[in-house]
Amino acid sequence: MEKEILKIKEEILSQAKKIKDFKLLRDLETKYMGRKGEFTKVLRSLSALSAEDKKKIGRLANTVKQEIASAFIELKNTLDGSEKESDFVDVTLPGKKQERGHKHPISILTGDLEDIFTSMGFMVLDGPELESDFFNFEALNIPKTHPARDMHDTFYIDKPNKNNELDLVMRTHTSSVQIRAMREYGAPLKCVAAGRVFRNEALDACHEHTFDQMEGLKIGEDISISNLIAVMRELLKGIFKKDMEVRVRPGYFPFVEPGIELDIKCTICGGSGCPSCKNSGWLELLPAGMIHPNVLKYGGIDSEKYSGFAFGLGLTRLAMMKYGIDDIRLFNGSDMRFLSQF
Ligand code: PHE
Repeated sequence: MEKEILKIKEEILSQAKKIKDFKLLRDLETKYMGRKGEFTKVLRSLSALSAEDKKKIGRLANTVKQEIASAFIELKNTLDGSEKESDFVDVTLPGKKQERGHKHPISILTGDLEDIFTSMGFMVLDGPELESDFFNFEALNIPKTHPARDMHDTFYIDKPNKNNELDLVMRTHTSSVQIRAMREYGAPLKCVAAGRVFRNEALDACHEHTFDQMEGLKIGEDISISNLIAVMRELLKGIFKKDMEVRVRPGYFPFVEPGIELDIKCTICGGSGCPSCKNSGWLELLPAGMIHPNVLKYGGIDSEKYSGFAFGLGLTRLAMMKYGIDDIRLFNGSDMRFLSQF
């Protein structure tokens, strides 16, 4: 083994003498000293030796390693010097193109929607993605044992909160911002809040574990469901730049009464049925309703005096419809071939 080590050293040093540029030097380094290099292999085989041999040969191997390293450094210095002399900049070569980033389709859409809503006098708010069970469920009229929690199976965090309670959850909807907004601003109130939400979903073309919603809220005196439908129509017109074909169905959400679902005709198949609309021709886009008095109470608002509507726009779905995207998984896939189209 000693002989082998010395032989490799001789080989390296004699080859190093002939080297004229950095590329060859790098090749030589990789050949012998790289992860699968010949010298590295020898070093690895030391572990099979007896303790005594390991000590002796190990010492030799270390000295040789250092000698080789300093020979490489010396060689690098000489090459550095010689390359500088021939430092020639060809100014006619094309430059390196600087790639500029741009907005994600969901951010573009969020911005457009926020413009539409601010023009109608809504505030733009934000809320945390890691929520308390209270804001995400309890205060929205979904107590611990409520079956509606099944639809919101999500990711719970196993670290206790400040009060040492295990109640942190990745928010399942932006509706958690409703209570925060009511407590902060009181009534009357007009606001939207967009952001990411999380659910434990089996992934397919129309289900993702992380997607985006925009919550909207209007609280005041004499607010009725016709105000709600008018605002929804206005926002769809703003996004699609035309009147959209919609249908309204009853929908159940514990925090609204009555609750509705506003669907739009699937823009991918034009209503004939495709995987994106579960072959129904319609897409659930805007669940909404009149805010439940219990929720107003949790928000600290007098439910005798005030009423209001709330909606939870599926931003990711809306982006699919607007841009004709047939697979929801593309949004979080980070594939530049997809993203650079926006
Ligand atoms: N937060 C509900 C959901 O994600 C949607 C919703 C929002 C329904 C506001 C009614 C009012 O399922």
